[in-house]
Amino acid sequence: DVIDVRPLTGQGLFTYDPGFVSTAACESKLTYIDGGKGILLHGGYPIEQLANHSDYLEVCYLLLNGELPTPEEKEEFVNIVSNHTMVHEQMSHFFNGFRRDAHPMAIMVACVGALSAFYHDSLDINNAHHREVCAYRLIAKMPTLAAMCYKYSIGQPFMYPRNELSYAENFLHMMFATPCGEYKVSPTLARAMDKIFVLHADHEQNASTSTVRLAGSSGANPFACIAAGIAALWGPAHGGANEAVLVMLEEIGDEENIPEFIERAKDPNDPFRLMGFGHRVYRNFDPRAKVMKQTCDEVLAELGIENDPLLKIAKRLEQIALEDEYFVERKLYPNVDFYSGIILKAIGIPTSMFTVIFALSRTIGWISHWNEFHSSPNKIGRPRQLYTGPKFRDYPSK
Ligand code: ACO
Repeated sequence: DVIDVRPLTGQGLFTYDPGFVSTAACESKLTYIDGGKGILLHGGYPIEQLANHSDYLEVCYLLLNGELPTPEEKEEFVNIVSNHTMVHEQMSHFFNGFRRDAHPMAIMVACVGALSAFYHDSLDINNAHHREVCAYRLIAKMPTLAAMCYKYSIGQPFMYPRNELSYAENFLHMMFATPCGEYKVSPTLARAMDKIFVLHADHEQNASTSTVRLAGSSGANPFACIAAGIAALWGPAHGGANEAVLVMLEEIGDEENIPEFIERAKDPNDPFRLMGFGHRVYRNFDPRAKVMKQTCDEVLAELGIENDPLLKIAKRLEQIALEDEYFVERKLYPNVDFYSGIILKAIGIPTSMFTVIFALSRTIGWISHWNEFHSSPNKIGRPRQLYTGPKFRDYPSK
């Protein structure tokens, strides 16, 4: 049921809805979620079908254009994106200003924001072609910047993109190849990486996407808006959860300690929560988590590491939580981040890079929402507040 409060706002009446649990801030054609039934559709297509039959760049095209591409359109789109994978050589100097142990999300916020100091040829937000070019640049450059963050952190030289590789293969190449050795990208790992990108591509008005839309509503530079989205994603209640899952598994340390952590998660006086469990919108199994779980099993089998101690803790934790009354009653199922963290670890991606991978994947959702905002009649976002401070009082006389 939708209550439209537009006619009331000018008269001083407004809704008070902390956390925006029942308030829609916009219309959108991109993504549909039915949290009760566990349904997620992009442009009408179920996420399970997209994850299993499509690929990330096709989903990018779908989110930007509203339709799947024909084979010719797909080829053209892939070519355009491939042509934008390099970042300006000046960008490589920015990295030197950071400590090697800086969190890669801190570097990403800065470097993506810094893109706004380049590319002044396509900043007319009222021009559809300019907006498209911004989107191409962001989709193409995010893997390059993400891999540069990692290479910088371990003191290795940056690897230039290889445009003959697929999007996911190229990312793995820039992450793991070195100038002095042959690196062969595993097709299974590239496919798993691509699925992670697809499953995180968009999720309607989450905190980071709403941030991008709100920042964009003032007409701000698109790269700066995406930097705002990256900042919002960083928190452990949102994109930081995949990193927090692995940190939690390490803290648990052994299967025999699981009950103690389950009890802590249930204690209302303990702020500890089981990371990777629960979701604001899904009160049923997150459909992305189902695909991720299957991919996780495939990757672990392919790599022959089903017996990794942390992965065993994760499986046992999942089993116990799914049977525990507290979690069952509250419909707290493992979310997409629970499994994506495990796959990323298996691929060899360090924990601190997990949220960066999420940011890379979600960039298409952010820029598509930004584009949708500017393609339709719009207004600057300006939420109201319920004032609870002191009423009028006179400044004390001295
Ligand atoms: N562990 C233990 N208890 C939990 C958890 C959890 N992970 N999540 C929710 N609960 C409990 C709450 O304490 C509350 O219990 P109560 O009814 O007894 O007070 C009840 O379940 C409802 O939780 P809310 O806080 O109202 O749920 P909300 O929608 O505000 O929060 C959130 C959703 C932030 C995702 C939460 O479940 C959480 O913190 N999960 C862990 C972090 C996480 O995995 N985040 C990733 C989200 S997915 C994504 O960003 C792609």
